[in-house]
Amino acid sequence: MLDKLNALEKDFNGQIVNCLKQADVLNLKSQILGKKGSLSEILKSLKDATPEQRKEIGPRSNEIKQNIEKSVQSKLSEIEIKEVNEKLSKNKLDFSLRDSLLELGLRDGGIHPVAKIQREVEDIFVSMGFDVLDGPHIEDDWHNFGALNIPETHPARDMQDTFWFKDMKHLLRTHTSTIQVRGMEAKKPPFKFVGPGKVFRCERTDATHEMCFHQLEGMMVGKDITVGNLIYFMKTLLKEIFKKDMEVRLRPGFFPFVEPGFELDIRWKKPDPKKGESEHSGWLELLPCGMVHPNVLKAGGIDPGEYNGFAFGLGLDRLVMVRYAIEDIRHLHSGDLRFNKQFKSH
Ligand code: DAH
Repeated sequence: MLDKLNALEKDFNGQIVNCLKQADVLNLKSQILGKKGSLSEILKSLKDATPEQRKEIGPRSNEIKQNIEKSVQSKLSEIEIKEVNEKLSKNKLDFSLRDSLLELGLRDGGIHPVAKIQREVEDIFVSMGFDVLDGPHIEDDWHNFGALNIPETHPARDMQDTFWFKDMKHLLRTHTSTIQVRGMEAKKPPFKFVGPGKVFRCERTDATHEMCFHQLEGMMVGKDITVGNLIYFMKTLLKEIFKKDMEVRLRPGFFPFVEPGFELDIRWKKPDPKKGESEHSGWLELLPCGMVHPNVLKAGGIDPGEYNGFAFGLGLDRLVMVRYAIEDIRHLHSGDLRFNKQFKSH
């Protein structure tokens, strides 16, 4: 019997080196160690052996079993590593693509103009003592609408504008004003913060509309805050961005979460395509804002008798378009290298 066991081990060692696939290894293992495997067959005749023989055979068969299991494991991982390496060597990077990028003048990747302006605006607000907050893209009705004093029947809840989830309770946030609510939940007044991010609307796209665009929300809550404070911060922001004093005007604007609400316009000169080089100036709507509605403060757990504040929602894509004279918002998401190239040096 001992001879049979030794022969079995020898046979196994000879066969496993020739296994090329993991399945072959596992087959071989079950041929030997399986219920009807050759080791079990040999051990069946143990009952006819003398006690001395048993003393010898027992430990030896255990030893063989362990050796086989070890070899099986190491063969399995050897095959796996070989297979992964083969796959990797097939998927080599195609460096010929690099040449076509170089032809377009793109040596390296760059920061997207929206990301760049977002960072700039964040830095400006941080330098004025604002915090930068974040919020989730998937929101609930309360954070997107309810807490912002947008009643059930408000058109902003219209199915056309909002990407609702099937449960009709969750949605892709339609504006960064959700971060006002999250900020009020997290902070005790006085506070001031900005909250940038992507927002989503179920819109038909055209030159000025995208389904996904970027806003930067701002909120300041404290005691005796005035429209004067709001204008001061907005003018400082615009001066930093456009590197000069900007003339602004406020027009009344309706948003359920502010009272009074405004549209802040800037006086803007833009090249007139009809008159070639000559410029004409006009007012450009840039920044909706207002004094936070008392109901919004209440929803955020803040006593409107004690505190008040202002809020604004800056359209970052709009700002990029004004600054770089981009005529179509869809360029920003197109990934077209000829368009991206112009931002390389910015
Ligand atoms: N959330 C508004 C929108 O997306 C923009 C807005 C208006 C934000 C007025 C504000 C605000 O904070 O005060 O249309």
